[in-house]
Amino acid sequence: MSETYDVAVIGGGPGGYVAAIRCAQLGLNTVCIDAWKNAKGRASLGGTCLNVGCIPSKALLESSEHFFQVQHDIAAHGIKVENATIDVPAMIARKDKIVTTFTAGIASLFKKNGVKSIHGTGKLLKRADTDAAWRIDVTDGDTVQQVQAKYVIVATGSVPRQLPMAEVDNDRILDNAGALSLSETPQRLGVIGAGVIGLEMGSVWRRLGAEVTILEAMPEFLMAADAQIAQEARKIFIKETGLKIQTGVKINAINTNDTQVTVDYLDAEGQSQQLVVDKLIMAVGRAPNTTGLGINENGLKLDERGFIAVDAGCRTSLSNVYAVGDVVRGPMLAHKASEEGVFVAEAIAAREKGDDQQHDAPDFNTVPWVIYTAPEIAWVGKNEQELKAAGIPYKAGQFPFMANGRARAMNAASGFVKILAHAETDRVLGVHMIGPHVSEMIAEAVMAMVFSACSEDIAAIVHAHPSLSEVFHEAALGVNNRALHI
Ligand code: FAD
Ligand code: NAI
Repeated sequence: MSETYDVAVIGGGPGGYVAAIRCAQLGLNTVCIDAWKNAKGRASLGGTCLNVGCIPSKALLESSEHFFQVQHDIAAHGIKVENATIDVPAMIARKDKIVTTFTAGIASLFKKNGVKSIHGTGKLLKRADTDAAWRIDVTDGDTVQQVQAKYVIVATGSVPRQLPMAEVDNDRILDNAGALSLSETPQRLGVIGAGVIGLEMGSVWRRLGAEVTILEAMPEFLMAADAQIAQEARKIFIKETGLKIQTGVKINAINTNDTQVTVDYLDAEGQSQQLVVDKLIMAVGRAPNTTGLGINENGLKLDERGFIAVDAGCRTSLSNVYAVGDVVRGPMLAHKASEEGVFVAEAIAAREKGDDQQHDAPDFNTVPWVIYTAPEIAWVGKNEQELKAAGIPYKAGQFPFMANGRARAMNAASGFVKILAHAETDRVLGVHMIGPHVSEMIAEAVMAMVFSACSEDIAAIVHAHPSLSEVFHEAALGVNNRALHI
């Protein structure tokens, strides 16, 4: 017997579970099919983000930052703490508890909103005729269950990219899941890839005392960020966090034995080097996950990089089949996945009401990026390299946290905020931040850009004193050379 729904969502991460909730809120009979099993072998909703991504990594970043501050910063406040120690299993248990609270929370949200939840791998099968619903075979162990739905939202996410010379065993060679579950701080930790995961996970274990070396293939550090921010970040991470970062390397071989991992590589000068560590984190990017979805049978088109091909409205090559989140083009971020999920749910509900107008998904240019290192890095919109390459005339205003009273009171005055505005119209084109709590401050910049604000508009807004947000205000004043406190 197969059950029939208006919408079947395949994948229960932030793209899929949010889409499912919104569909149900809009009155669509919805099922969410998800294959995730946690380390205990139990079904666990929330995908990468909740199980082995955003939430657990931020829990460990928070714990390790407290430990680092106790050891390095707290004395500046006159507080003496001697012989502080870290109980790594207790820290991991706290992280696991946060994860289970949130994954169970999604199950409750599904119940509350009337979303049917099925555990298993969903395979999308071609319709026998165009009037019939899509068929999805859901496999969980030896059990196969059939589901039918008029619309399908694919939100199958991404998986860690692998290097052919190194097999992740989550004992010596770790992916993100392994890096989030170590039972003790390794003495020597290597990280391949100085991207977002490499920097965040490298920071966690460095703050807990590991000697951390990050090897990055690209010649420049953090090439996705504004070059000035990246330069400042590299300086601070080396000097204040104590990370060792090498760019422009070429990894030749990775070998493990019972006690260590040896990485043979060429450095930026082409010299042969060897790094010997106790554990090695592989953080070389993530790949779209289309395994088990039946793409050979259903003919779902992929793009040249293996992502499910979609148009601006998240429509795939198959009729009534949409795809959102990490498995499609665009930034691999939880909030981007969720926004697409909501957008598609609303597009489907509109179609059901006879509105066939083609709407475009959220604008990626106003999707914020945050790297949760210390200091944090955040940006939205275009950076200076991109504006120069596009020949767009701009002016810049910049202000350092060093000149901000609140940041000084917090003893966290590294970094700055930079606002880029159009040279003629003054419209804000991009905002780039490195400093304390900029993950929160970036929201004001996103709001400004979404409402097409000019730097003058921000300059005219009263910001509380003393607050970190005054740095943003002063940067806006700086765009027209009006900064007051520098
Ligand atoms: P996923 O979260 O990957 O969920 C996909 C789900 O689909 C999974 O549960 C999977 O098991 C399931 N699935 C796959 N195939 C099938 C199938 N055939 N049938 C049924 N189920 C299937 N982003 C941020 O915005 N902020 C952060 O701070 C952040 N931190 C991160 C830290 C780490 C260590 C990592 C790895 C990622 C982080 N990300 C962060 C990225 C974020 O996790 C992803 O962008 C987000 O999870 C993507 O959501 P999604 O729903 O597209 O896919
Ligand atoms: P990434 O794309 O951010 O970084 C991967 C890095 O590995 C790049 O700098 C790349 O040049 C480097 N690399 C690739 N091959 C290499 C090789 N052979 N040798 C050395 N270096 C190599 O990918 P990452 O860190 O794996 O994260 C994946 C994605 O997950 C991110 O892009 C982001 O979308 C998401 N994420 C978001 C977070 C956040 O929002 N705070 C936190 C963590 C992940």
